[in-house]
Amino acid sequence: MIGHSVRVNRGAVLLVGGILLIAIIYLFTNDNEAHQLYGNLRNGRQINLRKLLIGSIKAAKAGGIEVVTVSRNVEQLNQRSKGKTKEGVDDPLTDADSKSHCIMKSGLRRLFPKVEIISEEDKIHGGCQDTSAYFDLDPTVIHENAVIPDEMYNIEDITVWIDPLDATKEYTEKLYEYVTTMVCVAVNGVPVIGVIHSPFSGKTTWAWVNRAMSEDLLLVKKEENVTNNPTITVSRSHSGDVKEKASKAFGSDSNILIAAGSGYKVLQVVSKNATIYLHTTRIKKWDVCAGNAILSALGGRMSTLENDSIDYSSDLSPVNDKGILATLSHHDYYFNKYTA
Ligand SMILES: *[C@@H]1O[C@H](CO)[C@@H](O)[C@H](O)[C@H]1NC(C)=O
Ligand SMILES: *[C@@H]1O[C@H](CO)[C@@H](O)[C@H](O)[C@H]1NC(C)=O
Ligand SMILES: *[C@@H]1O[C@H](CO)[C@@H](O)[C@H](O)[C@H]1NC(C)=O
Repeated sequence: MIGHSVRVNRGAVLLVGGILLIAIIYLFTNDNEAHQLYGNLRNGRQINLRKLLIGSIKAAKAGGIEVVTVSRNVEQLNQRSKGKTKEGVDDPLTDADSKSHCIMKSGLRRLFPKVEIISEEDKIHGGCQDTSAYFDLDPTVIHENAVIPDEMYNIEDITVWIDPLDATKEYTEKLYEYVTTMVCVAVNGVPVIGVIHSPFSGKTTWAWVNRAMSEDLLLVKKEENVTNNPTITVSRSHSGDVKEKASKAFGSDSNILIAAGSGYKVLQVVSKNATIYLHTTRIKKWDVCAGNAILSALGGRMSTLENDSIDYSSDLSPVNDKGILATLSHHDYYFNKYTA
């Protein structure tokens, strides 16, 4: 009896071993699908960029809802308490910033546990308490005409940049049109997905370079010719210095469009309200990454004032201290004018 049962077990072991061997051979062949499957099984070392695009759009929208909600609550409270400030809402900026940061970062973290995510608010609001506020991957955030491939990338090559509230000063001044929430995905430091969401208008502009873009961007055409009277959009907060530099470089026929928020300024370039976005002081990479991706997707360019592309790798400094020159068309021409 005992000998018989051992024989049966030995057979079973051989059978299982054989299956395992075949499985291992299958996984180590050059077949792409098998490799991809293996990559996925091996504790999620790969990430699907189509899903990350959908997650990024959802994150920007979810952050935007927080930003709008805080502003509405503050207005209601101010009306009710007639000027008296209440505990917890006397700093609406901190509140909006941290709520937006937390839903954007925790939401993406839950969906993509291993991906590197850098947020403007990491240092200030590092720990997010309310972990119940999540969003799901919702493919309807993408319009029906977009055909978006499933593309797998190694997770170590990906950096996600979050700006939970761009144009914070203007937010406190109730200049809400300048306010955006942004998400950017860089692959090996190159920005490939950009999302700029304007929460107070509800508009979302996004692009995945060489793959797909939001419907508003599909209509954008580059300018055929350069212009002698370009419009240069510059920041409200340091417009003095930059205004002088702009008219010196681009001529007395150039116009200045004073604006706020890097996301908003890129949207001015994309909509051709501005020819050039110029920034002459240091700027953080989460402010410009999404706009950089969107301009790249349209065949435009964002560079430093030394004509370098910006590297968005996670191991580099989050500060770009070489300024910004961004255009939809004829970057080289305007760059040469600026440096001449
Ligand atoms: C661009 O310039 C060329 C040459 O001067 C001219 O023929 C063409 O009409 C211009 N295109 C536009 C859109 O103005
Ligand atoms: C461009 O300017 C027009 C006119 O001022 C304005 O209505 C429009 O909203 C602007 N576009 C964007 C993207 O802000
Ligand atoms: C600026 O950089 C672009 C892209 O690398 C390059 O094609 C162009 O020639 C450069 N322009 C100047 C003036 O160096």
